[in-house]
Amino acid sequence: MLKLGVILFLGISTTVNSQCFYKDDASKKLNPEARTNLYRNQLEFTLDLFNTINHAVPDDNIFFSPFSVYHALLLAYFAAGGETESALKKSLRISDIQDKVNLLMAYKVDKRARAVNNNSDSYEFTNANKMFVDTDLHVRDCLRNMMAGELEALNFHQNPQVARQQINNWVAQITKNNIQDLIPVDGITDTTKLVLANAAYFKGVWASKFPVERTKKQVFFVSETRQTLVPFMRQKGTFHYMVSDELGAQILELPYKGNDISMYILLPPYSMKEGVSNIIKNLTPERLAAVVEEGYMGREVVVEIPKFTIERSLPLRPILETMGAGNLFDATSNFSTLSEDSGILFDDAVHKAKIQIDEEGTVAAAATAIFGFRSSRPAEPSVFIANFPFVYVIYERPTNSVLFMGVYRDPKK
Ligand SMILES: *[C@@H]1O[C@H](CO)[C@@H](O)[C@H](O)[C@H]1NC(C)=O
Ligand SMILES: *[C@@H]1O[C@H](CO)[C@@H](O)[C@H](O)[C@H]1NC(C)=O
Repeated sequence: MLKLGVILFLGISTTVNSQCFYKDDASKKLNPEARTNLYRNQLEFTLDLFNTINHAVPDDNIFFSPFSVYHALLLAYFAAGGETESALKKSLRISDIQDKVNLLMAYKVDKRARAVNNNSDSYEFTNANKMFVDTDLHVRDCLRNMMAGELEALNFHQNPQVARQQINNWVAQITKNNIQDLIPVDGITDTTKLVLANAAYFKGVWASKFPVERTKKQVFFVSETRQTLVPFMRQKGTFHYMVSDELGAQILELPYKGNDISMYILLPPYSMKEGVSNIIKNLTPERLAAVVEEGYMGREVVVEIPKFTIERSLPLRPILETMGAGNLFDATSNFSTLSEDSGILFDDAVHKAKIQIDEEGTVAAAATAIFGFRSSRPAEPSVFIANFPFVYVIYERPTNSVLFMGVYRDPKK
C-alpha cells in the first residue's frame, strides 16, 4: 500500500560566478498566480512525459511519479543558465512570463504546505528533493542562501563511497526503506560534482476497503492470445463511474481516506494495447480536469481489480532527450546559476517507483470488459472488472497534481 519514486542525476563539475537568477532579482513582481501556474505547467509536462514513456515502453508495465520528476527537474532548472535553462524551461512548460524568482517561491510554498498539512491518518505523501554538490564545487553564495534546504555538500572527490552511502541512506529514510541502495557502487566516483536526488513516498488507505475474504484468483487477459491468473480484489459500493467518449475509456474513481487524493482507473473498451495507448494519447489537461472535477453521480458499482505490486526504473535520460531536455547531459550544458565552475553536467538520470495495491489501500488499476462503451445505462449495479490492460492515475485534487501514474499491462512482468 505504498508507491514511491526516486530520481537521481549524477554529474561532473568545474567553476566561476555573479547575481542570483537575474541582474536584479528584487525587481521581479510577485505574482499571486505563481503556484497555480506551477501546477498547470506540471500537468502539461506530466501528460507529455506519460506519452513519451508509453512510446519508449509500449509493451511493459509503467509506473512513475510525474510530480517527483517535475520537482527534481525544477531544481536543475533553477541551477541552469543559458541554453540548458531555455531547454528545461520549454520542456517543463514554463511560460515566458514566469520568472525563476516566482517559481522558486511557488516551489517553496508547495513544500511548506505539504509539511504542515499532512493528513497522516488518511494518507502520507512525502516528496523530497536535494542537490548534493561536491565540497570542491564553488556554489554561488546567493544560490546557497536561496536554496539552503535543497543543497547539501558532500565530499565526493575524497570519499565517493561514503558520499554514496549518505545519499542512499537519505533516500531510504525518505522512502521508509522502500528504496534502498539506489545509487550503485560505480554510480559515484571521485570526479562526481553533482547529484540530484529525489524521492517520493505515498501510502494511502482506501476510503472503502476491499474485504480480504473476497479476493480470488481470476483470469487477466494480457493479450488476445495470452492470459494469466492473478488475485482480484472485489467489492460492491457506491463509486463515481463514467464513460468518456473523448478519452475512449470507462472511468472509475477509488478515493483514499481523506478525499483529497483518489485513484482513477481508465479502462479502454476491450481492445487491448491500442486502447491503452489511445487513452494516453487522448489525455489533455482539459479532459483530465473533466474526469476529476465533473460532479458525476455516484452509483452502485461492482468493482474487481487486480492486487499487485510493481517496481519500475525508468531510464530518464533518453526520455528527457526525446522531450528536448537532453542538454542537461551534454558537454555544452550550462549550470552557471549554480556555480561559475565550468563543465558541470549530469551523467545520468534514473527514476524508480514502486506501487503496492492491496485490500487496505493504495493504488489499483482496472479494466473491464463486460459492457462496452455507452451501452452501460444500467439500472442494476454497473460492473467494472479490470481484467485487461488499463491506465491508472493517483491524483491530488487540491493542487491538480498527478502524484503517480501507470499502465498495468502484464502481471508476469
Ligand atoms: C551560460 O549562461 C549564461 C547566462 O545564463 C551566459 O552568460 C554564459 O555565457 C553561458 N555560458 C556558456 C559557456 O555558454
Ligand atoms: C506529519 O504529521 C505528523 C504528526 O502530525 C508528524 O509526526 C510527521 O512528522 C509529519 N510528516 C511530515 C512529512 O511532515
